[in-house]
Amino acid sequence: MTEAVLLVGGKGTRLRPLTLNTPKPMVPAAGVPFIAHQLARARAAGVRHVVLATSYLAEVFEPYFGDGSAHGLRLTYVTEKEPLGTGGAIRSAADALTTGPGGPVLVFNGDILTGLDIRGLLRRHERAQADVTLHLTRVADPRAFGLVPTDADGRVLAFTEKPRRPEEIVTDQINAGAYVFRRDVIDTIPTGRPVSVERETFPGLLSSGALLHGVVDASYWLDLGRPASFVQASADLVRGVVRSPAVPGEPGEHLLLPGARVEPGAVLTGGTVVGAGAYVAAGAEVDGSVVLDGARIEAGARIRASMIGQGARVGPRTALDGVVIGDHAEVGADNELCDGARIWCGTAIPDAAIRFSAA
Ligand code: GDD
Ligand code: MG
Repeated sequence: MTEAVLLVGGKGTRLRPLTLNTPKPMVPAAGVPFIAHQLARARAAGVRHVVLATSYLAEVFEPYFGDGSAHGLRLTYVTEKEPLGTGGAIRSAADALTTGPGGPVLVFNGDILTGLDIRGLLRRHERAQADVTLHLTRVADPRAFGLVPTDADGRVLAFTEKPRRPEEIVTDQINAGAYVFRRDVIDTIPTGRPVSVERETFPGLLSSGALLHGVVDASYWLDLGRPASFVQASADLVRGVVRSPAVPGEPGEHLLLPGARVEPGAVLTGGTVVGAGAYVAAGAEVDGSVVLDGARIEAGARIRASMIGQGARVGPRTALDGVVIGDHAEVGADNELCDGARIWCGTAIPDAAIRFSAA
């Protein structure tokens, strides 16, 4: 039985205010909490037991996912009292695994949407007889990630988390946030204190001569840490650009959850999702956006690449582009917001108060 650890304890600071009440992995993308897609993809690749390593807002995961049986999985929850970092979380989650010392354990960051062939990664791990196998992807600007240069055989040469100095940027290959660990390697991570797998464990393993194997993969890949990438991921899931068995509907230009009301004459494009009990008035145009449950989009509003929080209201003729509206916030009529502007939960913007606010 293949087992996995899903790291879901981060604070999701870059997605605030939506992550003030909901941890990032539970924010809905294409109609379901984001990690439902990761769990479904793992299930499809033969994973049967997943340990959720929780910390921030830990209490919200279990009421939704329960014992996992509704998702065809066994789910176990391991909660850190104080956040232990990525390495500490992997180490403490491992106590709940049954995989023997030489066996493979998958580990996933809880904010990655990817078309990675998980079975293929396991096969490459076995073939390389590696201590740890890392999924790598190429990005145009690697500075916000873990840099992972490899040799011609895929052997990892170094691991530099979020390089600061220009001379450290020696490759465009980055850590894509999925690993296969040999179980006994996890057991070498210290307990009882925070450990970063990126800053401590991987560099430490490399300097002790361990074999870290990198698998560079060109399939779909996105880190959902920022609002722009979160809405992009949701839209791509809705449109079927990347497939997930957990999307509650067929691929298309938009997805309506049960109980969503959209008036004739409203235009929903670009993979927009409209949540349960949400309302979109006639003449509103919503493109590539996430409208969460119970939100109201009034007549003539134009919304692009934005997230509209639960129960929030966007007034008539208001234009939003690349904006996050917090839960239960109200933006009055005739406002224009763009470029990363964020409206805090529960706040109210009067009519015609803001024009082209940049964050
Ligand atoms: N349980 C637990 N405890 N989980 C944690 C903790 C913790 O203390 N800290 C972070 N996590 C989880 C987050 O919830 C997330 O799913 C994952 O670990 C990675 O944390 P992020 O905060 O999203 O890290 P990042 O995006 O800056 O960088 C990581 O991902 C990049 C790829 O997207 C690193 O792994 C980079 O090396 C990598 O390139
Ligand atoms: Mg991340």
